[in-house]
Amino acid sequence: MLVGGSGCGKSALLNEILNSMPEEYSVCNVPFNYYTTSELLQRVLEKPLEKKAGRNYAPPGTKKLIYFIDDINMPMVDMYGTVQPHTLIRQHMDYGHWYDRTKHTLKDIHNVQYVGAMNPTAGSFTINPRLQRHFSVFAVSFPSMDSLYRIYSSLLDQHLKSATMKFNPTLIRLSTKPTSKKYMSLNQMATAREAT
Ligand SMILES: Nc1ncnc2c1ncn2[C@@H]1O[C@H](COP(=O)(O)OP(=O)(O)OP(=O)(O)O)[C@@H](O)[C@H]1O
Ligand SMILES: [Mg+2]
Repeated sequence: MLVGGSGCGKSALLNEILNSMPEEYSVCNVPFNYYTTSELLQRVLEKPLEKKAGRNYAPPGTKKLIYFIDDINMPMVDMYGTVQPHTLIRQHMDYGHWYDRTKHTLKDIHNVQYVGAMNPTAGSFTINPRLQRHFSVFAVSFPSMDSLYRIYSSLLDQHLKSATMKFNPTLIRLSTKPTSKKYMSLNQMATAREAT
């Protein structure tokens, strides 16, 4: 699980890693929000699974499935202090199963694993320790100004240098650095205004 402030690149980082996983892995994106319920979650989790022998369910063939739970601490906390989607994931992680909601029979779920991301200053801030303990937690800090400058100037440079744009090379040399700096300072001003 990646934990870090808003906009520090958790979702982008994980999406990039998950998209470059070997063939044998498939990925299911599960973005959480305030209105995610355990029922909705179960429907999303079950969609990429198929029934195998008996009460066993798994991804098709011999594939391994990775659920990417984004913004895991967003769903509503009910009057008992429970976040219902979390209890479903925890049940699966603890016991390896969940229940069929209509037949009330067990479903053993195989060959799946979870990765997650959350912002500890949003939603319910923390998640239940009984679920949290299943994850290895990595802190993601906001990129430094130097890194941001490198990211933005290489993006802009690439854009200006592309053959279809036909920009004058002198213009490229002169404009990349100041434009990136200006963008960063405008960005900072906007963030500061948002915070007040
Ligand atoms: N390595 C990167 N290179 C270029 N752009 C990036 C990189 N990492 C993040 N970004 C950009 O930064 C912005 C914020 O990233 P992202 O949405 O992943 O943040 P987040 O940590 O998931 O935020 P939140 O907690 O609000 O979900 C996005 O527009 C993304 O495209
Ligand atoms: Mg995100």
